[in-house]
Amino acid sequence: MKNKFLISLSLSLFALSSAHAAPPIQPKAAGIESSDYVWDAQSSEETQLLKMKGDPARGQIAYQGCQGCHKPDASGRPDGTYPQLAGQHTSVLIKQMSDIREGRRDNQKMYPFAGKHVVDTQEVADIAAYINSLPLPGNNDKGPGNDLVRGKMLYEQDCVVCHGERGEGHAGKFYPATAGQHYRYLVHQVVAIRDGNRRNANPKMVKAVKDYSASDIDAVADYISRIELPKKN
Ligand code: HEC
Ligand code: HEC
Repeated sequence: MKNKFLISLSLSLFALSSAHAAPPIQPKAAGIESSDYVWDAQSSEETQLLKMKGDPARGQIAYQGCQGCHKPDASGRPDGTYPQLAGQHTSVLIKQMSDIREGRRDNQKMYPFAGKHVVDTQEVADIAAYINSLPLPGNNDKGPGNDLVRGKMLYEQDCVVCHGERGEGHAGKFYPATAGQHYRYLVHQVVAIRDGNRRNANPKMVKAVKDYSASDIDAVADYISRIELPKKN
């Protein structure tokens, strides 16, 4: 009798928990598909975040929800599935986090772990401060290295104006640091940017890569993956 009761109790608890386990769907920001979409328009949360002071010690705790994918040292995965976050500008981390939270950058995989239902605004600021305190991993995936002369030429012609001589980006303009990032992630992002699948990208960059072939993208990403970011500490 008692056993039967326990079995039906655990069955209903199981049903209850699996009903709750359905991953939340990432919202899609209004107007994101329109041609006059503003890539760096700020949500009120983003404006607030950019003024907030994060606490790295609290951020380390909140980051536990991120490390399963981005790794404990925020080095990401060399296969390009998860980007390296260590070494990225705080402003860029905040913009990207906000964009994902607001549905301005598609990321169904990450949303269940980083949406407003699980991570509050203060925690985003804390996590960004924590990531900023981490040393550069310096062991990123590099490309095959067989077209670096062309990669450098393309980089200097089309990318250096924003991403900088050393791939350092520009914190104040929300241009990401690209040096030190995994090659396969870089390729994947440039393809997404070219094909209009990363809606929050600067339209000037979309234009710069619009005629890039797969081998142009490989060459430029390979070149970028080999630039070493200056050591911060
Ligand atoms: C289930 C895996 C997963 C988890 C957990 C996860 N992320 Fe991500 N994250 C991703 C993926 C995948 C991308 C890249 C998406 C793409 O290709 O555009 C990404 C991208 C990012 C970016 C943008 C990086 C860039 O270079 O543009 C930031 C910032 C980020 N994640 C922060 C976090 C933080 C902070 C947490 C924890 C609150 C977190 N992520 C949890 C999978 C995850
Ligand atoms: C007009 C300035 C500009 C130019 C030119 C430009 N970019 Fe970007 N790039 C950006 C901005 C801004 C972002 C971040 C967009 C966002 O907020 O999602 C970005 C993002 C990226 C990313 C994704 C980084 C990440 O961490 O997810 C890659 C890779 C990239 N650019 C490569 C390139 C390459 C390669 C070129 C040259 C062929 C180039 N960019 C030219 C401004 C530029």
